[in-house]
Amino acid sequence: MLSVAQKRAMARQMLLRQPDDSAARIAAAAASARGLAFRPVASGRIVRHVILTGATGFLGAYLLRDLLRTPGVQVTCLARAADDAAARTRVMAALAGTGTADPGPDRLRALAHDLAAQPGGNAALAEAVRSAEALVNCAARVNFTDRYGQARAANVEAVRHLLGLAQGGLRFHQVSTVAVFATGAFAGRRVTEATPPAIAPFASAHGYCQSKLAAELMLRTAAEAGLDATLYRPGLIGWDTVTGRGNAADFLTHFLAASLRIGALPRIPIALSIAPVGYVAEAIVATVLADAQRAGPLHLLGEAPMPMPEVAAALAAAGRPVELVGYDDWLARLDADAESPLRPLSLLLPDRFADDADARPPSLFDSLSTDRGVPIDDARTRAGLARLGVALPRNAALNFAAYLKEHLG
Ligand SMILES: NC(=O)c1ccc[n+]([C@@H]2O[C@H](COP(=O)([O-])OP(=O)(O)OC[C@H]3O[C@@H](n4cnc5c(N)ncnc54)[C@H](OP(=O)(O)O)[C@@H]3O)[C@@H](O)[C@H]2O)c1
Repeated sequence: MLSVAQKRAMARQMLLRQPDDSAARIAAAAASARGLAFRPVASGRIVRHVILTGATGFLGAYLLRDLLRTPGVQVTCLARAADDAAARTRVMAALAGTGTADPGPDRLRALAHDLAAQPGGNAALAEAVRSAEALVNCAARVNFTDRYGQARAANVEAVRHLLGLAQGGLRFHQVSTVAVFATGAFAGRRVTEATPPAIAPFASAHGYCQSKLAAELMLRTAAEAGLDATLYRPGLIGWDTVTGRGNAADFLTHFLAASLRIGALPRIPIALSIAPVGYVAEAIVATVLADAQRAGPLHLLGEAPMPMPEVAAALAAAGRPVELVGYDDWLARLDADAESPLRPLSLLLPDRFADDADARPPSLFDSLSTDRGVPIDDARTRAGLARLGVALPRNAALNFAAYLKEHLG
């Protein structure tokens, strides 16, 4: 029987085995938008109709909630389902999770649409495209163990498909990620909203980040051809600070649940930057509805990165005290917990955790932190959002207690 350490070594080998040829594929994806023509979009229109993807997901449901909070705004959601009725049922279930009632068919429509399969001619979609002013692409395959080839259909080809829809004069809003900067190219540099991402080697196991970069670069090519596109780059999207509802499937929830079970957090130089989902959604929706020409990109981060002792203090204040222990100790306790919510993901964690970011192989922990040696700046975003009346909640208002109660009982 293999020890946990042996299984962990095997998992890492499997992830790193294949050569990483994604740079050429990312460049090809970016080039694929060359030659597209886009009808110009006038600025400052009153946005009445928005096409939204990803509404059945965590952030997308909050985007839908906030769009519908604006009187008169109609939303057409593209969602995976067998037919339009099933798509509506799925979208309504996600919306209900945010505490929002059915706004009725005049305000909310859903069309069955698998973005990875890129279905062709659909009269209802064509009609929606004609009447909408904006398209918000929040859908993505969010899987940190993907290779580029696995993420490409949903995260890259889907964007190429949506560009086809936008050609008739839709403003394109793309939910991206700060992880597009998680390459060697930016080490030691401060990344601001004005910094363009670039193709550079990612760790080979980061197909998700590569696919999000490919989508951004494709949109950049399209923008050169006249597309009006705005990019939103969240870091780690945290829970709803009012209800405590978080993304039950994300690494943060599993990490905290697993750590609470063993009564310990690892003392590692990772600082959590938690941007509450309500803030991220409010920021995006306010920008979409403001309809400004070529706004952004926007960097949507938490108030300030929280080092592990601060996370431990927040847990203690929420009535869940934990010890801070060395990484080796934390991992040993985790491996000894047969019921750990981090299984089997814990097999992808590093055996050791080097203090120096450069000496550390990429790992799932990177999804918790926005500053893997690359400080990300959001000053311009905060100032722009303040003008739209959107304020970033303070870490003290994160409401860990509600989140822990909601997810961990
Ligand atoms: N969560 C974070 O911390 C974070 C951080 C930075 C950026 N982001 C970005 O934020 C966006 C939303 O993330 P999330 O955490 O809310 O993800 P999520 O909960 O996994 O939701 C993903 C959404 O995308 C949809 N989707 C995936 N593949 C699709 C396809 N082939 N066709 C149609 N829809 C498809 C999913 O539909 P199904 O319900 O059918 O699966 C779901 O609605 C993503 O673009 C992600 O890259 C997230």
